[in-house]
Amino acid sequence: MKKTASAFAASMLALGLSFAGSALAQDYPTKPITVVVPFSAGGPTDTVARLVAEVMSQDLGQQVVVQNVGGAGGTLGAGQVATAPNDGYTLLLHHIGMSTAPTLYRSLPYDPTTDFAPIGLITAVPMTLVARKDFEPNTLAEMMDYIKANGENVTYAHAGIGSASQLCGMLLMDALDAQMTTVPYQGSGPAMTDIIGGQVDMICDQTTNTTSQIQASEVKAYGVTSLNRLGNLPDLPTTKEGGLDLEIGVWHGLYAPAGTDPAIVERLEASLKVALANETVVSRFAELGTYPVTADEATPEALTQTLASQIELWRAVIEAAGVYAD
Ligand code: MLT
Repeated sequence: MKKTASAFAASMLALGLSFAGSALAQDYPTKPITVVVPFSAGGPTDTVARLVAEVMSQDLGQQVVVQNVGGAGGTLGAGQVATAPNDGYTLLLHHIGMSTAPTLYRSLPYDPTTDFAPIGLITAVPMTLVARKDFEPNTLAEMMDYIKANGENVTYAHAGIGSASQLCGMLLMDALDAQMTTVPYQGSGPAMTDIIGGQVDMICDQTTNTTSQIQASEVKAYGVTSLNRLGNLPDLPTTKEGGLDLEIGVWHGLYAPAGTDPAIVERLEASLKVALANETVVSRFAELGTYPVTADEATPEALTQTLASQIELWRAVIEAAGVYAD
């Protein structure tokens, strides 16, 4: 009899907890939401996050606050969210680095495929090869020859092993069979400051962080990694036109910690879609050389599929290059 009673009590408790959970989800959100950006403020990821967060705040009726947690190529911030409470109030906005870190870091403190609840894809941003404005080469071909001839005398800025700028630099050095001196930063925001200041020679960075600098001639631009030239940078050749086989788009996704109530994930997915359809977001993305993904890509399924396929793709590339963080 006693056993039955305790089993009954346990099932009622479970029912009560799940009811409480769904009740919490019904009222969600009841307080501000934090979106962790795993790079410094003022960089490309931060730019995307703040545009999206602004509209999600209006849609959700609670502040969506961007928190910059830089370090270790984005893995520090991602790790922080992996172990955050799965109550829907701590999210991660991260990019292609979610798919390269599992190979680059052999002791990564989280698993991108099991420690997160994907919410949706956001955008895919092209990259541009840029340098300090008095850097000697004037064309992509000259830049490639200069790097081959000067190797480690050329300094290359990136945002840590696992960042998009590091990935692009790795692909560039692999393509040229040349090794530059790499200079790590907490994000490509501060890296760009040093490129403009002339303290470091070059970087491959996302158009969300280079477009206005290129248009203002604050940096020298050699090529863009998109298939076609960009409407807002019509004079910038593609890497392919310049004879460099380097095409890369930096995809971004929004994640919650694993175990987050599916009803909360659904609410966040809906809010993300509102943000990506917002005309201010769409026009600002266009000015920065990118565009929001479609509604059926801003889904947990699409992000899950992209993450899995990208992990496999970059595993092979990184293992071939033999570049590891630990
Ligand atoms: C940033 O936001 O600082 C960049 O995404 C860093 C990088 O990935 O290169």
